[in-house]
Amino acid sequence: MATSPQADGESGTVFSAETYFATQPPPSSLEQDVARVKEFLQRQLQDGRKVVLVTSGGTTVPLELNVVRFLDNFSAGTRGATSAEYFLKAGYAVIFMHRQFSLQPFSRHYSHSTHPFLDFLEIDESSQSATSASSPRITVRPSEEPQLIEVLSTYKAVHRAGTLLTLNFVTVNDYLWLLRAVSQEMSILGRSCLYYLAAAVSDFFLPRQKMSVHKIQSGKGSLHIEMDQVPKILKPLVAEWTREGFIVSFKLETDPNLLLPKACQALARYGHQVVIGNDLHRRKFEVVFVSPKSSSSSASQPSAYEEAWLRIDLNKDPHKEIEEDIVAELVKRHEGWIRNAGTAT
Ligand code: PMT
Repeated sequence: MATSPQADGESGTVFSAETYFATQPPPSSLEQDVARVKEFLQRQLQDGRKVVLVTSGGTTVPLELNVVRFLDNFSAGTRGATSAEYFLKAGYAVIFMHRQFSLQPFSRHYSHSTHPFLDFLEIDESSQSATSASSPRITVRPSEEPQLIEVLSTYKAVHRAGTLLTLNFVTVNDYLWLLRAVSQEMSILGRSCLYYLAAAVSDFFLPRQKMSVHKIQSGKGSLHIEMDQVPKILKPLVAEWTREGFIVSFKLETDPNLLLPKACQALARYGHQVVIGNDLHRRKFEVVFVSPKSSSSSASQPSAYEEAWLRIDLNKDPHKEIEEDIVAELVKRHEGWIRNAGTAT
């Protein structure tokens, strides 16, 4: 039975995961998404593939039921979309759970502002003869062809192989329901599944019961909204929904001094396998892997964790993507996790 949300002693309310799901409604697309996930997993199971769930992009927090205004965050989904490509390359099947309209594997190379695809298409007027009524042909600028052929052929191959499943979320509520459902389904894979939680999920939300039905009216001066805390979803994920999965969470900080302590705190609290720490301004060329020391006896001591920094030199190779190395390292660690099944973790 769900318990009521608890006041946290300061302000706002702390929802347990159980209370959250008992009081907040599921998204209307959930059943359909779960059916697609089941079908996808069955196929991967038959083919003996490892599966990774990549979460990517930010979540919104709507302020009204008929939503006009919402809170959001900076995440563009670069980390998730890029990593998904490297996981596919490493032979994984990928469930790519992303914020609607954030970057996606493959199409990310031609995203709207950095490399717009219309800029490298040409209209070949010469292909239209004066007498024919046919439309002119579209061609690709020759300098863009090599990269496009590479991206397009990998994209087509992935589609033929059926190894990429894309799911959408927008709000933090969509995200939480979908993550729970997908992870419960993925648990049938045991140790062969990996969780790569790169989404930037809101820590606060407005429960449905507190939301204004219609657009909040201006004219009353300032606006005061008290939000409640989103439940720490890593806890049930690790302890209940998918006990054997290899779970990698991320920690983003803007104060570099907080990165390691916060990563250790997350491992101590949730007991999962890896936290990847990244500093907002250095995340494209530096991350730190924090994980429990295999020989450690007490996971609650900071000394029980080890750190491994991963850095790339973008001056030397501006096209290098740090996600390539992140994924290579995780593939190795996941293999070790699968090998160690049945022994202490
Ligand atoms: O998308 P980009 O622009 O490339 O940016 C990538 C990134 C910086 C957003 C990414 O690398 C990153 O760090 N994501 C996690 C941000 C963060 O600090 O999250 P958190 O501290 O709120 O959460 C910790 C972990 O738990 C995260 O893995 C998060 O995905 C997960 N989480 C958090 C809250 C929640 N309710 N559910 C979750 O699953």
